[in-house]
Amino acid sequence: MAIQGGVTGQRIPRLDAVAKVTGKAKYTADINLPDLNRYAGKPVWEKMLFGKILRCPLPHARVRRIDISKAEKLPGVRAVMIIAKEGAELRYAGEAVAAVAAESEEIAEDALRLIEVEYESLPFEVDTDRAYEKGQRGSPRVNRWGEGEDGFKEAEVTVEVTVRTPVQIHTPLEAHGSVVGWEAPDRILAFDSTQVLFAVRDSLAREVQLPPEKVRVICEYMGGGFGSKLWMHQHVPIAARLSRMAGGLPVKLILSRKEVFLTTGNNPDSVQHIRIGAKKDGTFVAFYRRSYGTGGVGGGADLPGPYYRFQHGFVEHYDVFTNAGPSAPLRAPKHPQAVFGVESAIDELARVLGIDPVELRIKNDPNEIRRKEWQIGAERIGWKQKWQPWGSQTGVKRRGLGCAASAWGGGGGPGSQAEVRIHRNGTVEVLLGTQDIGTGTRTVVGIAAAEALGLTPEFLRSDKFVVYIGDTRLGRSGGSGGSTTAASVYPAVYDAAEKVLRRLLDIVAQKLGVSADQLVARDGRIFVRDNPQKGLRWEEATKLLPTDLISERGEWRRGMTGSGVGGVQFAEVEVDTETGKVQVIKIVAVHDCGRVINRLTAEGQIIGGVVQGLSFALLEGRIMDKQTGRMVNADMENYKIAGSLEIPEIEAILLDMPERGVIGLGEPPIIPTAAAIANAVANALGVRITSLPITPDKVLAALGKVKS
Ligand code: MOS
Repeated sequence: MAIQGGVTGQRIPRLDAVAKVTGKAKYTADINLPDLNRYAGKPVWEKMLFGKILRCPLPHARVRRIDISKAEKLPGVRAVMIIAKEGAELRYAGEAVAAVAAESEEIAEDALRLIEVEYESLPFEVDTDRAYEKGQRGSPRVNRWGEGEDGFKEAEVTVEVTVRTPVQIHTPLEAHGSVVGWEAPDRILAFDSTQVLFAVRDSLAREVQLPPEKVRVICEYMGGGFGSKLWMHQHVPIAARLSRMAGGLPVKLILSRKEVFLTTGNNPDSVQHIRIGAKKDGTFVAFYRRSYGTGGVGGGADLPGPYYRFQHGFVEHYDVFTNAGPSAPLRAPKHPQAVFGVESAIDELARVLGIDPVELRIKNDPNEIRRKEWQIGAERIGWKQKWQPWGSQTGVKRRGLGCAASAWGGGGGPGSQAEVRIHRNGTVEVLLGTQDIGTGTRTVVGIAAAEALGLTPEFLRSDKFVVYIGDTRLGRSGGSGGSTTAASVYPAVYDAAEKVLRRLLDIVAQKLGVSADQLVARDGRIFVRDNPQKGLRWEEATKLLPTDLISERGEWRRGMTGSGVGGVQFAEVEVDTETGKVQVIKIVAVHDCGRVINRLTAEGQIIGGVVQGLSFALLEGRIMDKQTGRMVNADMENYKIAGSLEIPEIEAILLDMPERGVIGLGEPPIIPTAAAIANAVANALGVRITSLPITPDKVLAALGKVKS
């Protein structure tokens, strides 16, 4: 049956909205006794313990001696474990050294202070440029197409920019953390804040050498991850081991905000030397980029792009190794910084050629949908009426307009299994082991079932409709990454719902004396297609069930999803040339995501992406102290993220193209924001700030008012 759109594409408030705002929703840190016993199904535990991890204060060190005996003797301490043995090398400030479990958080903290560690301090480097110059880098990643650099010979104009972006931290509202207990000598119950429920289960099972079915992982509610919760973090097996040492008592181990900053991942920084060559009429010819960046002790700083059509190109990238925590994918990993580089260069080209920046982009954009989005966005921001040439203003406060584009995949795939149950009293239950990282997946799951069953939005939001997710006991589901969740779970749930509906239709058909294929389910009724008067209301139909409930399972299937989305954003900013402050006035964000499932949360994705992109443009950045090798702003006071005062009017425009199928939208809207804002600032001032974040000191330096 084709999707009718009775529920899909409407504006559906989150099914868990009330539970979240009233505090009824339990996040990992809210899990205590007796909840734990309730989940276990019997009173297994009388007490819960608190875990803490001792972390290395030095950026590079070797453990000379470690002594946990005093900590072990502290009353209330139930387990102490050494993670970095004597002789172990620690490569960044924040690496785990030892862990304790105690009867209270305070005792656990006291116990950490009683652990004696003697470190041998080793040479370190936390500065990306210096590490690069010293040769602390991997082999180059090179990509060449067309004639490579030789392609510039065909160019009539060449522009060059060098841009920099800082290391950014994911800063999800909810810290990483777990509660883990042994229900039996061979069975674990674990709660973890994660984007990959089943990967945590499988990884933990491997670590403790249990079969996966002996490990149950639960994450019913989650306060974001942005990519930093895409694998099992070390605290999970640590909590499991501490628990086992303490006779199986559950251990709650929630990371502090500082631990989140130092150890759970970050978005690598970048230095990008970019050159683009073009014909005088604006046709792009050649692209060159040489870049480096640090993913700390890991890699992963390479950049995508260039997004537009260049006949010739050469890109070369170096991962630089520094003594800092490893990187992790962050919402559209590395795309915002790559787009910032490319779009800065394109803007320079527009200025040099005297071509309108929007026209120049449309001329070189290979994507048809995006060419339409450029038109819509330009119209909504008032580009034609408001745009003025770079630096043509003279007042104290100067306004500017800028734009940039994005591209992303967002397709789904097999691996999700859902179950849908219909009860005789009309209640519908949907069960699927996916996690909702905060994007509204629980509601997407509900919409898929309600759509297939022909129920109304009101029924979906009533207490007769229940969605169970976030538990590995339910059907398997993939991780929430790469904006693939919606396109992975929607078809699986729809499939299950369609199958169970077929059974109900058979029963109704008998009652009405027609064949089942003459029946349709729509608007909360089941009726004869050619004679809509002849039919039953949902609850009248379900009353005919011979058993208390019927149930079917479904799987992902082809044909309902697509992939490949584009987006463009326009920014209007006002820059105060006396204070250097940039105020974003308005962002117009035009995006597509194939078939819109929930217009409300889809627009929410766009707004959220813009907010995070704006934050990256103007405020964020990890600051490392070169002398001590430590991060100096590892807290929410000194690591700046956008608050309500920074947020402008955001106009989210969503193209609905049902024929393209369901496509993910979580990541793309963060991609163009920083570039659009930076281009708007350059437009307002007539000078370009090529280093993010665009802070007042950089604005004043660019204007020649202070030294940089
Ligand atoms: Mo995303 S960076 O795949 O959570």
